[in-house]
Amino acid sequence: MPMSFNQSVIDEFRANGGRVGGPFAGGDLLLLTTTGARSGRPHTVPLGYVRAEGLLLVVASAGGAPDHPQWYRNLLTHPVVRVELGAGSFDAIAVPAEGDRRKRLFEEAVRQAPGYGEYQAASDRELPVVALEQPEPPEDSPREVRSLADKLLEAHTWLRAQLRHVREEARTHIPGRPAGLGLQLRQHCLAFCEGLTHHHTGEDSAIFPALARSHPELAGPMARLGAQHLVIGRIRDELVALLAGFERADPDRLRAELDRLSAELEAHLDDEEAELLPALAGIPFPPART
Ligand SMILES: [Fe+2]
Ligand SMILES: [Fe+2]
Repeated sequence: MPMSFNQSVIDEFRANGGRVGGPFAGGDLLLLTTTGARSGRPHTVPLGYVRAEGLLLVVASAGGAPDHPQWYRNLLTHPVVRVELGAGSFDAIAVPAEGDRRKRLFEEAVRQAPGYGEYQAASDRELPVVALEQPEPPEDSPREVRSLADKLLEAHTWLRAQLRHVREEARTHIPGRPAGLGLQLRQHCLAFCEGLTHHHTGEDSAIFPALARSHPELAGPMARLGAQHLVIGRIRDELVALLAGFERADPDRLRAELDRLSAELEAHLDDEEAELLPALAGIPFPPART
């Protein structure tokens, strides 16, 4: 199969620290990698971007095509995306703007890159404007990561901070409609849920089995911690189901679910740290290369 045009742009971007020639020379281009809504596979596209109001923005114009591009549909299912910009890269949470905010940001995008106005005129869709938010590292980030214990604490700190942030957002959330949550809260909640799933999957599939071999005395506590993962996983599933119907979802119900999740998760993280940190402190991270 001949290499696609997109793939040749991606290759050139990566080979030249984010600089691309041809029709994109001098333009503001980034690479966005989303996770396939159905396939779960990474999907990378080169996209123009604009900056406005301190935000990094991409427009799901698809050249004015009638349907949203695949990357946009993907990020509604998996809000955590990878952004390559210049020679650097970072994870971001993709948050489509809504209402007046979208209108304002779109006007600014058109001011900077008039082509978006032409695409909008050619399409019946309202072209989505998506902010690629780079989450700030929590203030209480642990120091340098040298052991698996540090790595665990780093992940727990991230989870605690994200959940705090989402609960705060849910608490102060005043939807613009009689019911409904808004895309911003939905995307942040979903990103937290994905991070949580990722963390627990890693523990269940890698950390716990490895510890069970090196520290058989921890079998009992790890069985208890694994059972806590299941309880937390069920609350998370309910939360995700609620978010699927976010346009009609009851904010009070979301707050109640988040409170329940928070109580279980905080207790679990404390329990896990008390039981496992001493053993994990003896395991270097990143693993030594042999
Ligand atoms: Fe855990
Ligand atoms: Fe954990």
